[in-house]
Amino acid sequence: MPDTHAHGTSGTTAPEPTAPEPAALLELGQSYWASKTLLSAVELGLFSLLAGEPAREPEIRERLSLHPRAVRDFLDALVGLGALEREGDVYRNSPAADLYLDEAKLPFRGGFLKMLNWQFNLWAQLTELLRTGAPQTKGPTHFDEFYAKPEAVRGFMIAMDGANALVGPALAKEFDWSGRRSFIDIGGARGNLAAAIAKVNPHLRGKSFDLPPVEPFFDEHMDRLGLAGQLDFHAGDFFTDPLPTADVLVFGHVLHDWNDEQRLALLRKAHDALPEGGAVLIYDALIDDERRDPKNLLLSLNMQLVTAGGSEYTGADCRSWLAEAGFGRTETVPLTDADMLIVGHKTKPAATAAQV
Ligand SMILES: C[S@@+](CC[C@H](N)C(=O)[O-])C[C@H]1O[C@@H](n2cnc3c(N)ncnc32)[C@H](O)[C@@H]1O
Repeated sequence: MPDTHAHGTSGTTAPEPTAPEPAALLELGQSYWASKTLLSAVELGLFSLLAGEPAREPEIRERLSLHPRAVRDFLDALVGLGALEREGDVYRNSPAADLYLDEAKLPFRGGFLKMLNWQFNLWAQLTELLRTGAPQTKGPTHFDEFYAKPEAVRGFMIAMDGANALVGPALAKEFDWSGRRSFIDIGGARGNLAAAIAKVNPHLRGKSFDLPPVEPFFDEHMDRLGLAGQLDFHAGDFFTDPLPTADVLVFGHVLHDWNDEQRLALLRKAHDALPEGGAVLIYDALIDDERRDPKNLLLSLNMQLVTAGGSEYTGADCRSWLAEAGFGRTETVPLTDADMLIVGHKTKPAATAAQV
């Protein structure tokens, strides 16, 4: 019999190729255990409790009204995951959890994690999204209906502060604001991003444009940031009202809520509202043009679970909408680990041809 493994002329047998290990796939499959452990801790207010005072397991259980069965494993898993620390039998927050997950502190990011906790149930329906294409929210997918209850607006605003916390300071620095006098953050929520831009660029007049139910939360947030009177709120609906004008219009985490047709309609409106030389700034967690990096592809699935027509998109997609809406020159600038900025300049057609 010929040796089917023989290579070349030496007649030696090549080693069997090593079989791939299953561990990475299995670990990936169970990674939601860790995620949900953190999200339940946020839901229970564990980090706010421990920020007040480190505590032992029986006290934590009592104060959070928990059954004894699973709590010790839960707390020790959080230690192993780096969210808590344990000394003897006393649990305290890790430094990061203490700063970002204690509701009483201003850098609180737990609102974003609370939103993820709510979305966790939607991910259980991912197969259904794939079969039907339908969003998996049981409640409203339109903001006006969603905003019927003030507590829903507040929760969403806190989550958005968390989502734009790193983008605001980056955008304040990465874009050249020096020749601009005014900006409006369209879909600017309670003004957290506008505040970050205005803080670094005090020469700018800034506004946040959003639906009317957001206004009281904008006022409250500006008071809290000590910026009352420095930024304005413009109430309106960006689909049915004309957009107000400014040198710069920002669409941050807005286009990913809508379908291509609606995105184009918004960019056309922005083009109409801007003066010659004005700019539209778009930031979102762009899908890489090769469509290989899973991070923002997963976020795109998330958007499809929660909205009727939204998704993330590539920079190439965005630049094509900008061109179709009439913008001449575009630039793409990295902002944070997750978000990219795309700038569309409103230029005269002749200048456009020369500059592109
Ligand atoms: C995903 S949030 C983004 C918030 C903020 N720009 C950020 O980056 O965190 C989308 C925002 O668009 C606002 N929005 C939704 N529909 C709107 C409409 N028709 N007119 C004006 N604002 C709207 C929402 O209220 C919300 O504040």
